[in-house]
Amino acid sequence: MTSPEDFRLQKVGADSVERLLAECFPVPAGSSFFDDFPIWRHRPDAEWLAVRSGDGIVACAGLVTGVWKVPGGPRLRVARVGGVATHPSLRGQGVASLLVEALIERARRLELDAVVLWGTDSPLYSRLGFKSRGVQLRAPIAPLLEGGSRAPSALRLEEGFDATILPLMQQARDHSGGVELVPSDREWISEHKNTHWARVLDGQGRLVAYGAFGRGMDLGLQLHEFWGEGEALAMIMRWAHSIDPSAEIMGPGSVLSARVGSTAVRESACLMLPLGPSAERLAESAIWFWGLDGV
Ligand SMILES: CC(C)(COP(=O)(O)OP(=O)(O)OC[C@H]1O[C@@H](n2cnc3c(N)ncnc32)[C@H](O)[C@@H]1OP(=O)(O)O)[C@@H](O)C(=O)NCCC(=O)NCCS
Repeated sequence: MTSPEDFRLQKVGADSVERLLAECFPVPAGSSFFDDFPIWRHRPDAEWLAVRSGDGIVACAGLVTGVWKVPGGPRLRVARVGGVATHPSLRGQGVASLLVEALIERARRLELDAVVLWGTDSPLYSRLGFKSRGVQLRAPIAPLLEGGSRAPSALRLEEGFDATILPLMQQARDHSGGVELVPSDREWISEHKNTHWARVLDGQGRLVAYGAFGRGMDLGLQLHEFWGEGEALAMIMRWAHSIDPSAEIMGPGSVLSARVGSTAVRESACLMLPLGPSAERLAESAIWFWGLDGV
């Protein structure tokens, strides 16, 4: 059997790993992993490490950096790791561990505060020191719409992505935490191929709520990227529910607990490996990533 030391890691571009990602993740035939996670192709700082065998890439893992805001607290520089994949023929030999370890080393060299990952808790990550952190609430939308008032309102909902959403996305992050947006983020955010977007405008045409729903937001039917209050947010929830009656809403307790009550499932928000004291000290309630932050 090959030992992990026999695998040589190399930096590659996103195009080189596209085929392997489509083989390893539930990517529908004819589409690309990047249709749902365009950040990994379009963000200028995205880095890929890979193992090559013969003419092809047989394992890979990606890293993007970001500044993560803790409401009322520090700004942490984090690495987000994603697209971790090993060809089925090579699994169980420590290749993914080797790749993730190398990305952790990269994050240390960049003097980042933490490495974050949207994976399920597993020996692969716990052996490297990742721990489940943060709390997210998840609840079906349908019961939340029952009995809601439908008084005539000046609000109107429009579908589609529009750059005017970006300041409201930043407001969601200022309030509840998340990765700060930078102007170039518009390029990859608008590249989501399977995401529905909606905006709610008030009587003066001001944007007061938004939502993003569909594959790419956790590959499921979660409303995991949204902002707004009261009736404006209710309109976004009704819109998501009209696309799929099994739609769920997923968010931090600070935003959702009053709304979802006991119908919510409580889950950890991410896997985190703190690299410094500021990330070590974070309270569970401070750790939150919106759908587009948790790549
Ligand atoms: C997860 C994956 C990258 C592991 O690759 P690998 O080279 O076999 O990994 P390693 O040999 O370093 O580690 C093996 C560990 O991965 C764990 N693992 C298997 N599937 C996993 C998954 N979907 N998510 C997380 N960990 C997984 C196993 O628990 C195993 O630990 P064990 O040997 O103690 O049981 C590979 O199974 C894969 O490509 N899966 C499909 C894509 C995917 O789900 N990626 C993870 C996204 S977070």
